[in-house]
Order: sequence, then structure tokens, then C-alpha cells
Amino acid sequence: MITPQELFLKRRKFMKLGVGASVAPFLIDSLMAQTSFGAPLDYVAQNSPLNPTQEELATSYNNFYEFGFGKDDPKRNSKAFAPKSWKLSITGEVKKPLQIELQDLLRRVKLQERVYRLRCVEAWSMVIPWIGFELRELLAMVEPTPKAKYVKFTTLFDPSMFPAQKSLFPSIDFPYVEGLRLDEAYHPLSILAVGMYGKSLLPQNGAPIRLVVPWKYGFKYIKSIATIELVSERPISTWEKQNPREYGFYANVNPDVPHPRWSQASERVIGERGRQRTLYLNGYDKEVGYLYEGMNPKELY
Ligand code: MTE
Repeated sequence: MITPQELFLKRRKFMKLGVGASVAPFLIDSLMAQTSFGAPLDYVAQNSPLNPTQEELATSYNNFYEFGFGKDDPKRNSKAFAPKSWKLSITGEVKKPLQIELQDLLRRVKLQERVYRLRCVEAWSMVIPWIGFELRELLAMVEPTPKAKYVKFTTLFDPSMFPAQKSLFPSIDFPYVEGLRLDEAYHPLSILAVGMYGKSLLPQNGAPIRLVVPWKYGFKYIKSIATIELVSERPISTWEKQNPREYGFYANVNPDVPHPRWSQASERVIGERGRQRTLYLNGYDKEVGYLYEGMNPKELY
């Protein structure tokens, strides 16, 4: 979404200020054990009519700016990323705030496989067999107060793990932030994924835990989440802050609302030839359309 040209210009501007560009290399934490699932899987989506994208493509063509802005940067630059333990903190407008090790959380939720379409705002798409649990399960544990209206998600900020976070010229504001309206977060299609293709998430795909909201553009699927906060005011998400003209809070897939720089009417299917027509709400209108009744779909970009 940010071009190398834009970055180049940013960097050049910085150099003019007379500040050196060299940064001492950070030591990246040593390799840590892979997450193993603590709960039995429930393969509810085994009979999905969708045809999953080749695993090799879904794990090598990625957007994860903490590891660089090129599509092959996340795989290449995340080889050393392997958190030993991962704490998730759920705070804010809740009756029972929770700080929990991911391993312990996974023993308390029902893991399922969900095969969903993934539509990126950049007009390409994949189909991913996720493993995860419904976000509403986690919300039920913390009991949001009546003041909670939105859910704000934040990626871990740890420059020793994410090389781009220590950059002097970050391409976006770190840590990455995303948000959902509370009723969107409670929708059963909203999941927190911890795996795909029957395995733990790889670093480039947002290990160890990320959001998946299949009716929204991919940039809502925040990766490597450390904090979930229930808030009363609408949070400003990373891309909205970066460029509010091009990226909104809702980011609902809509073929009739073009991105200011390209059409959203069709999408390039990764791993297949040609393009296909983009579906309203990415094909999940029947399930989630009611959330937006009375709102102008053109304003939900
Ligand atoms: N989460 C974080 N923390 N940082 C990112 O740069 N990129 C987003 C989203 N989540 C991003 C992120 C974008 S733009 C997309 S399209 C999806 O992750 C891509 O997910 P994938 O690489 O697993 O296909």
C-alpha cells in the first residue's frame, strides 16, 4: 500500500536534516518453540465449497509491515521470530480484566477450522483454512461494561522481534492498531486465528494470534496481537491514520466503492489465472448484512 518510492522520498527528506541512517543491529531473540494446540480441533468447515489457496502461496505472499513492506519481506525477515511465551492482555471497559498466557487461553476456548475468503484492499484474494476461536468467547470471559462500544486491538511493540519497528523511517506508525464495533466483534464470523492449514500460524501470517473478519478488507486482520482493549470511543486504526482518504474504519468489502487509486469491482485470485468479480461484503452479506441496516454502504469503506 506504501510504495518503495514513497519510502525513498521520506528517507531522503530525513537525510536532508543531516541525521545519519545507520542503526546498530538489534539482537533478535533466540528461536522459541512452536505453539501447540491445547484444545481439540472441531473441523466444522471440512465440507466447505471454497477451494483453499495453495499453502505455499499464502505463507510467502504477505503484508506485515513490521517485517518490511515487500510481499516477500515477511517470510524472509521473520525467520528468527519465535516468541517463547505470549501474553495477551484484555483490558479497558470490562468487569474482569484478563492477562493470560496464550497456551492457557487455548485450553479455555473451542478451536474450530473456518475456511474463509480473504480479500485484500489491494484487489487480490485468497481462500484460507484458518484455525481459531470466536472472538465473542473471549469477550464473554471479560464481561464488557455498558460503556464498551468498540474493541481496539494492538500488535506487540517489540523492536527486538519486529525489525521495522526500530527503523528510523518507519513506513507506518507502530504499533499497528485496529478496531471493530462491539457488535461486529460479537459476530460469530469474527475469529481470533492461531493457525492455518492445520498448523500453528507462521510468523509471516501473524503468529501467534491474529484477527480474522472475512467481510472486511485484509488490513483489518491485525497480526501478532498483544492487547485487546474495550473502549467507549471509536479507535483510529493504523491505515485510517496513515491515509484517511484511502482507508476507512469499517473497510467493508464493496465492489461498488472504488479505492481512490483503483477499482474494487474485481480481484486477482492468487494462484489462479485471471480475475473474479468481487462480492459485496466478500460474499458474507447474508450473515453480516444486518449489522449495517440503515447505514449507507458507500460510507462503510
Ligand atoms: N497486521 C500487522 N500487525 N501489520 C501489518 O502490516 N498487514 C495487514 C494485515 N495485518 C498487517 C497486519 C494487511 S494490509 C493484510 S492484507 C493482511 O494482514 C495480510 O495477511 P496475510 O499476509 O496473512 O495474507
